[in-house]
Amino acid sequence: MPVSHPSSIRRTLAIISHPDAGKTTLTEKFLLYGGAIDLAGSVTSRRDRRATTSDWMELEKQRGISISSTVLQFTYGGFHVNLLDTPGHEDFSEDTYRVLTAVDAVIMVVDAGKGVEARTRKLFEICRLRGIPIFTFINKLDRPTRSPIDLVDEIENVLGIASHPMNWPLGDGPRFRGIIQRADGQLNLFEKTKAGAYRAPVSVMGLTDPAVREHVDGDLVDKAIEEMELLDIAGAPFDQERVLKGELTPVFFGSAANNFGIQLLLDGFLSMAPEPSGRKSGETLIEPEDKRFSGFVFKIQANMNPKHRDRMAFIRIVSGKFERDMQVWHGSAAKQIRLSNSQKLFAQEREIVDEAFAGDVVGLVGNQPFEIGDTLTTDSSIKFDEIPVFPPECFATIRGRTTATAKRFRAGMDQLVREGVTQLFESAAGTTMILGAVGPLQFEVLKYRLETEYGAEVVLEFSPWTVIRWLMAEGEPVGGVNAPTDDLPGGCALAKDSAGHWVVLAEAEWALRSFKRYHENWELAERLVK
Ligand code: G4P
Repeated sequence: MPVSHPSSIRRTLAIISHPDAGKTTLTEKFLLYGGAIDLAGSVTSRRDRRATTSDWMELEKQRGISISSTVLQFTYGGFHVNLLDTPGHEDFSEDTYRVLTAVDAVIMVVDAGKGVEARTRKLFEICRLRGIPIFTFINKLDRPTRSPIDLVDEIENVLGIASHPMNWPLGDGPRFRGIIQRADGQLNLFEKTKAGAYRAPVSVMGLTDPAVREHVDGDLVDKAIEEMELLDIAGAPFDQERVLKGELTPVFFGSAANNFGIQLLLDGFLSMAPEPSGRKSGETLIEPEDKRFSGFVFKIQANMNPKHRDRMAFIRIVSGKFERDMQVWHGSAAKQIRLSNSQKLFAQEREIVDEAFAGDVVGLVGNQPFEIGDTLTTDSSIKFDEIPVFPPECFATIRGRTTATAKRFRAGMDQLVREGVTQLFESAAGTTMILGAVGPLQFEVLKYRLETEYGAEVVLEFSPWTVIRWLMAEGEPVGGVNAPTDDLPGGCALAKDSAGHWVVLAEAEWALRSFKRYHENWELAERLVK
């Protein structure tokens, strides 16, 4: 019998949701079912998070949001699952988007009482652009919910994706009695578990079994049967091909806090989710089975552990086998490096990684000059396409408060910009540092980290700009030391990006329109594709 490639049992996913829909709870429950922890909640429960005393956590505590993403790995049902956590707050969208470039599928958590919310929609669009499979978990069935038919309709109408419920709820809120598997009509009866701490016991019976009506009010059963008949007639049929193309989302119902429906979701997800996908290097698709090792950096984070000033670059392995201490080609630095300090993360714990395969994520600790999007490979001809940079929508100027800490300010800025906390620009005269970010909270994170991690007090002032465009001439970004024009309408300014390309910053679309009238011959690009 041929031995399957180790990457074929890898599944790499992220969970996306609007804040409070239950992403953290579901993550914990996955770990519980994966046997990675004994009691759900011991990894990331808010209570524990609050008890964590690191400085970095302090900001999370103040804000009540999750800032850093972590990679969690566990085994379940013979699969090796890599779960990439995505930060929950809207302002961290850029970081979240980058994480999404490193996964092969996502689970979208929807609060059954609220339906599809704004942030879910935004994240969903990014997944759609990548064409990755999207699974839906409709959570909090133990609370009063909207009608399940409405929820499924909303997913189809608002998100524009076909859906196929794999199971169906029997009641909701205080009358929530269980979940019916559509494929075989089996009912999993709901039992509340104490604080959701243990795997939920499951009693299963056929929906048509007369015993069901001893446990459940007849009207609920009749209603569920009627709704499922409607789905059979009017709903999209199940189609694995369409799932893999991201055109049809399998929908699961449950209650993460009560461990209910989690196992059905995990089993369903793992039976349908794709193996690790290849990645394009120019026109060539590098497949996971390719013997050459390759991977790319999708996230960098410094000072994760304040006790050890360190920096971790997260690598998604695309092909071949990773071995500790291996030599690889680091394309953007144009040199060979040794990957000696490789680690995998389990919440705050770290473990040395000796080997890993396509689909896995490895954290490299050290001071290598990695940047987001960098390729690491044993074959220097492989170079993965860049991870997209998102055009900033808010801007601020920043400077060190005192000259005494100027050196630390520069070191901190260099590091944090490299991590992608914010983008950095320079005023046309070269006198002012301008920060650009998708959301303003990123500025606060930068300021906080400069002060706490680098001891550099800063002055940060918001700028009025909301729109950025790169100046282009004949398809190329305009560079050069001197500003290409001083003929600017009101509400506009010129600045340079970190690569020395000229950009126009505008207060609003109207100002940008005036700029276009002044400079009809220039093309303006919303972003640069390297
Ligand atoms: P997030 O990561 O998507 O932001 O959501 P999170 O898991 O933190 O859940 C948000 C709140 O919803 C939490 O309550 C959590 O306990 C609750 N929750 C999650 N799943 C369910 C569910 O199936 N049923 C019900 N009723 N609630 C659920 P909290 O009060 O904000 O925090 P906590 O102290 O309970 O952890």
